[in-house]
Amino acid sequence: MENKKWYKDRVLYQIWPRSFKDGNGDGMGDLIGVYEKLDYIKSLGCDGIWFSPLYPSPGVDCGYDISDYMDIAEEFGGMEAFKKVLDGAHERDMKVIMDLVVNHTSTEHEWFKKSYQRIEPYTDYYIWRPAKANGKLPNNWDSLFEGKAWAWNEERQEYYMHLFAIEQADLNMDNPLVREEVKKILTFWLDMGVDGFREDVITFISKKDGLPDDYIMPASKGINYFNHGPHLHEYLEEFKRDVFSQYDCMVLAEAPMVTPKKALEYIDESQNPVLDMMIQFATQEADCMFTDFYHTKFNLRKLKKAYSAWQNGLEGKGWNMLYIENHDHPRMVSRYGSEKFRVESAKMLAVSYLFLKGTPFIYQGQEIGMSNWYPSDPEMYEDVQTRWQYFNVATKKSPEKRLERLWHGSRDSARTPVQWDNTENAGFTTGTPWFYVNENYTEVNVASQENDENSILNFYRKAIKLRKELSAVRHGNYTEYGKNSSTLYTYAREDEKQKLLIVCSFSENLENWDVPVGFDMDKAELILCNYENVDATVMKPYEARVYCWEK
Ligand code: GLC
Ligand code: CA
Repeated sequence: MENKKWYKDRVLYQIWPRSFKDGNGDGMGDLIGVYEKLDYIKSLGCDGIWFSPLYPSPGVDCGYDISDYMDIAEEFGGMEAFKKVLDGAHERDMKVIMDLVVNHTSTEHEWFKKSYQRIEPYTDYYIWRPAKANGKLPNNWDSLFEGKAWAWNEERQEYYMHLFAIEQADLNMDNPLVREEVKKILTFWLDMGVDGFREDVITFISKKDGLPDDYIMPASKGINYFNHGPHLHEYLEEFKRDVFSQYDCMVLAEAPMVTPKKALEYIDESQNPVLDMMIQFATQEADCMFTDFYHTKFNLRKLKKAYSAWQNGLEGKGWNMLYIENHDHPRMVSRYGSEKFRVESAKMLAVSYLFLKGTPFIYQGQEIGMSNWYPSDPEMYEDVQTRWQYFNVATKKSPEKRLERLWHGSRDSARTPVQWDNTENAGFTTGTPWFYVNENYTEVNVASQENDENSILNFYRKAIKLRKELSAVRHGNYTEYGKNSSTLYTYAREDEKQKLLIVCSFSENLENWDVPVGFDMDKAELILCNYENVDATVMKPYEARVYCWEK
């Protein structure tokens, strides 16, 4: 039964609505624009969409601060536009996944306003604490976005917890009434026909009882006390039992710092799992420490170790969610690939993860090799986390060095409008775009790649088509070769019908490739490659190959 789950045979496309496509010329991406592009998404071979939040929101965290969970924001076209997209997607056999953001709400949400006024039953919907006798904060935890995790509310004369921005107040999930609200939200959307949820930082919803001070973590204090907290499993089980189990839906949980072993507590298919998949962060940490802002030199071995740990760790037990980009990380071409070899490396990165076992996600613009954005002035950044990093985090570094850190680390690099063509504003809008368009749009855009058989876009189409045709990608086991190489990633996939060998170069030099023992290259068929001519044992810069042996 578990093996028949629909998400195991699909490739999903993530839309970050503000920057996908503006359909009404007001400069902001919307669902009218999405509707126009459904056929485009389908043409990639994607048969599902994950929408970053579409709900009404003041926009402090670009929609992750929700003020109404049961509506669609006017700026995105409202409920009418959403229903049209939902039907349009279903007509094309595409699933639709919503973002569920219930660790916190916007401070503009009605619940919060009633809560600070102590209007029942909302009084305990949030995590309120009085100031300590010595005037200190309720505890020493840090917010991940803005300073300490507590903000003072004048009306109520208490502090509320915010693990993210000040305008994102953490819900008190220990209150059964709050969990009932969550279930109402889930039911509302599932009854409308949506096919599942991506649950935002869901592993943070249960905080350690008593909210003790944290003396373990030097930075990001408290994370050990709110990540995978004491009642997390219980609450997820409740959502599953009361809601998800009644629908044929998929539940994907964002899970910072999760390990494969920990993930299996939630997704082991033989243990009545409370979730279907988890979004791990290990594969995002090959060029940084903890967050993208603490940039280090790209380390392929670290990346390979992460991929293999997840492929092997879940084998036969749980299902992987595969991704290289999303709205929270800078663009991969600029990180693990190369802007100099942009085309080659974008294709190689596609191969590096599209042939692994799991359900791949593609983030808007990734399929044309969009790269990082390098603004000259820190004021040009929009993202709340980025701005805090620059303007509020004390450092002795020069302004230039600090700006450089944003170039490497800011999520805004993934949030510039999708580059549709080489006309003004990259064809994203006929009006004034809400955010800067990456200057490279005249060179990097969908229209020019549509007409080029060798484009990144058409390479993605080929790779996705192949992944769907090859049973070994769906079912086969995984073996890594050449673990010690710091430039090449080689892995095999094998089932009863076929054997695949995948090799990816993460180097801008020529690299010798040692064919792993036991692979008869004379009988191999090269089914995908990002170069025309192949030299059997020498890999060109960012070359990627997929070999196949039919049994
Ligand atoms: C998740 C989202 C991110 C958001 C944060 C707070 O990590 O992906 O975009 O800022 O949660 O909701
Ligand atoms: Ca618009």
